[in-house]
Amino acid sequence: MTSQTVARVFAGIGVAVVLKATYDFTSFLYFYLLSAPKYRRYLYGDAPYALVTGATDGIGKAIAKELYHKGFNLVLHGRNPDKLKKVQEEIQSSFTTKRLVRLWIADASAPEVDFASALKDWEDIEITLVIHNVGGSCVKATRIDAIPESSLLSDLRLNATFPWLLTRALLPKLRQADGPVELVFIGSIAGQLSVPGLIPYGASKAFLRQLSGAIAADEQFRSPTNVTTSYMLVGSVVTPGHIATPTLATPLAEPFAKSVVAKIGSGRSVVIPWVWHAVRLGMVGLVPERLMKKAAASAAEEELRLNAKQA
Ligand SMILES: NC(=O)c1ccc[n+]([C@@H]2O[C@H](COP(=O)([O-])OP(=O)(O)OC[C@H]3O[C@@H](n4cnc5c(N)ncnc54)[C@H](OP(=O)(O)O)[C@@H]3O)[C@@H](O)[C@H]2O)c1
Repeated sequence: MTSQTVARVFAGIGVAVVLKATYDFTSFLYFYLLSAPKYRRYLYGDAPYALVTGATDGIGKAIAKELYHKGFNLVLHGRNPDKLKKVQEEIQSSFTTKRLVRLWIADASAPEVDFASALKDWEDIEITLVIHNVGGSCVKATRIDAIPESSLLSDLRLNATFPWLLTRALLPKLRQADGPVELVFIGSIAGQLSVPGLIPYGASKAFLRQLSGAIAADEQFRSPTNVTTSYMLVGSVVTPGHIATPTLATPLAEPFAKSVVAKIGSGRSVVIPWVWHAVRLGMVGLVPERLMKKAAASAAEEELRLNAKQA
C-alpha cells in the first residue's frame, strides 16, 4: 500500500467518525429539545386507563399524577390500602377535571399474586398504557452469600418476576384494545453498570431490559399486534427509596416523571428520559471501567452510610 492510499484510508475513517458523531449529537439534541410528546396516541376510546405499579410513592406516584393531568384514568397499584386511598384522593383533588381512579392491592414481592382476579376487575376498562414502575432495593451491607435466600428471592420477585407475570397476564387483554398499547419498564443504570451491593437488583433490571426488548420483538415481528414496549433507563432520582440531595443529575420525582411521560411512545426501545442522566451515562462511557467501578463502589458505600443514619 502506498503512503497516499494509507492517507486516503485514514481520511475516510476520519470523515466517517465525524459524520457519526454529528449524527449522534444532532439526534441527541432533536430527541431532548425538539421531538413532540407522543403519549396522546394512547388517549383514545371513551375512558383510556394507565396502570401504574408501585404508585403510592416516589417516581410511580409522580408518573401517575402526571398521566392523570394529561387525560388518563388510572389503575393505581400498591401494597398498602390506606396509602393507596390517600394517593387516590391526592391525585383526584390535584386537578379540576375528575377522572376515574381504581386501586389494585397486591404485594409485588409475594410468591403468589392473584393476577386472574385483577384481570376480572379490569374486564370493563380499556388499559392503553402500563407503567411497570414497582421495584427497588437498598444497597446490601453484605455479599450475596451472607444474604438469606428468601431476601434474594423477594428482590427478584419485586423487580423482575412481578412485572414479567403481570405482562403475561395482561397481554391477551391489551391485544384486544382498539388502538396502540405501550408497556413501559422502569429500569436502572444499576442494570447497565456493575454496582457493588446491588447484585439482585442490578441483575433484575438487566432482565427487565431484555424482557422489554424481547416482548416488543415478539409482538411486532410474529403476526404484528398493537403492543409496543420501552425500557426507561433511570439514574439517580430523589424519592423515599433513594434519599439524596437534589442536583441537575439527581432530580426530584415530579420533574423526572414529566420527562418520562414526555418520552412515552417515542419508538425507541431504550430511552433515557432525563437528559442529565444521558449526559452522565455518556461521560461514564469515557472513564476506564476500573475507575468507574471504584466510583460506583464508593457511591454504594455512601448510600449504605446514609441508610444507616436514617434507620
Ligand atoms: N429513585 C432512584 O434513584 C431510582 C434510580 C433508578 C431506578 N429507579 C427505579 O424507579 C422505580 C421507582 O423507584 P422509587 O425510587 O420511586 O421507589 P420508592 O420511592 O421506594 O417507591 C416505590 C413504590 O413501590 C411500592 N412498593 C415497594 N415494594 C412493593 C411491594 N412489595 N408491593 C407493592 N408495592 C411495592 C412502594 O409502596 P409503599 O409506598 O407501600 O412503600 C412505592 O409506591 C423502581 O423500579 C426503581 O428501581 C429508581
